[in-house]
Amino acid sequence: FVNFKATDSWLSDQVSIINYDPKLGIKIEEKKTIIIDYSSPNVAKRMHVGHLRSTVIGDALARILTYKGHQVIGENHIGDWGTPFGMLIEHFLESEDMNVDDIDLENFYKDARYKFDNSEDFANRSRKRVVKLQSKESESIELWKELVDISLLHFNEVYDMLNVLLNDENLAGESIYEEILPEVVQRLDDQGMLVESNGALVVFPEGWVNRENEPLPLIIRKGDGGYNYATSDLACIINRVENIGGTEFLYVVGAEQSQHFDMVFQVARQANFMDDSVKSVHIPFGLVVGTDGKKLASRDGEAISLKDLLEESIIRANQSILKKNPMMEESEREKISRMIGIGSVKYADLSVDRNKNYVFDWEKMLSFEGNTAPYLQYAHARICSIFRKASTNKEKFENNKILVTNENEAKISRILLSFSDSLDEAIGNYAPHRLAVYLHKLAQEFASFYENCPVLVYYSESIMNSRLALCSLTARTLSTGLNLLGIDSPERM
Ligand code: ARG
Repeated sequence: FVNFKATDSWLSDQVSIINYDPKLGIKIEEKKTIIIDYSSPNVAKRMHVGHLRSTVIGDALARILTYKGHQVIGENHIGDWGTPFGMLIEHFLESEDMNVDDIDLENFYKDARYKFDNSEDFANRSRKRVVKLQSKESESIELWKELVDISLLHFNEVYDMLNVLLNDENLAGESIYEEILPEVVQRLDDQGMLVESNGALVVFPEGWVNRENEPLPLIIRKGDGGYNYATSDLACIINRVENIGGTEFLYVVGAEQSQHFDMVFQVARQANFMDDSVKSVHIPFGLVVGTDGKKLASRDGEAISLKDLLEESIIRANQSILKKNPMMEESEREKISRMIGIGSVKYADLSVDRNKNYVFDWEKMLSFEGNTAPYLQYAHARICSIFRKASTNKEKFENNKILVTNENEAKISRILLSFSDSLDEAIGNYAPHRLAVYLHKLAQEFASFYENCPVLVYYSESIMNSRLALCSLTARTLSTGLNLLGIDSPERM
């Protein structure tokens, strides 16, 4: 072993340099165009808790990569095209009142499917409707658009609550690739990769077999002429390479779609839709499970609505602030509850290794103790209160030299110095939890620094200012880090 010891004066210099740097000492990378495919719910369905993970993990990666200097394009690959739209439109036409506010997305898809399975007449009309839709018959397109808009209203409501970067400009649903699907078929055929199998057109990527050890096909066009989910994804790759010019594609999609992406990437490479200069990565994640260890569901076994869940988080946060700080003004409490409630739900997701399932536990995620959003937010608010007490503000200390005079100051300085590494670890592994773990460590270390090193007790001008500068830098690192996870940092709690 070779041991190095950082001297206090070296640490002082280094941590001061970070304090002077508006980007907190992070290394800016050479700019790449990175496309992150995330959230991607399906039209005519409500967003459920399963979409939470893709949305918050993708959003955190988008924020961190942007902070590192990349051009990041978020794409919301919504499911807005395909054969189910025949039955959805027919069901829409039969809905009592085709009024936006009266459409109940909770049951819409299920009800349409039920009719389709139980009424020959309805099923026939649905099939005809698919044909009309595919031939762009204007009435059908109008109805389809309305359905999409109703769904977008709902998605946007959830995105607003979640405070994620996605808006209508990020929409890149399956429907936009529909035009070039025949071209995908043509190009695969030109490469000699297309095979006919039971009337369908398929590709057999090398190395894939089913349970019977027979070659496993990737279906490109079904027997009835309809295209598949994989075909849109191939078209999407062509678009990202040839029109957008991206060099890194990240797909934040549940682990159950791993095989789909492995096969699609392999076929896209073989067909030369993308070459080795393009990096394409599926970023899978585990399930959200209830405290009973089973996939999170409502009492009747349905997937839980994301909107309901987020509303509940705000109510619960409100109650817990009321308990902690009964004197707080109501309007302020309301504002802060939002930050804490939503922050708690997001942080619970982002603070665990994304490959693992995580337990959705209200009590734990809203607790002011432990690795939680409220703990970190509270650490930040507490630092803000130090500055209020001293009748000054944090920004004033951003140009102040930090002196390391004892072990507590040395410890927190070392952690402040490794902020940049924590970001690199987070993006190197597409693992936002590395940043979360870092922030938690920082908040803990701050608590012990604050306990052992009186900040507002006057020893000397330089010590007091240096400690205030450490507080200021810690607050800034916490709020920047939380912001990169898409979480707000209230000034008081
Ligand atoms: N809409 C799909 C689903 O809900 C997810 C789409 C993911 N992105 C993609 N490019 N395939 O399962």
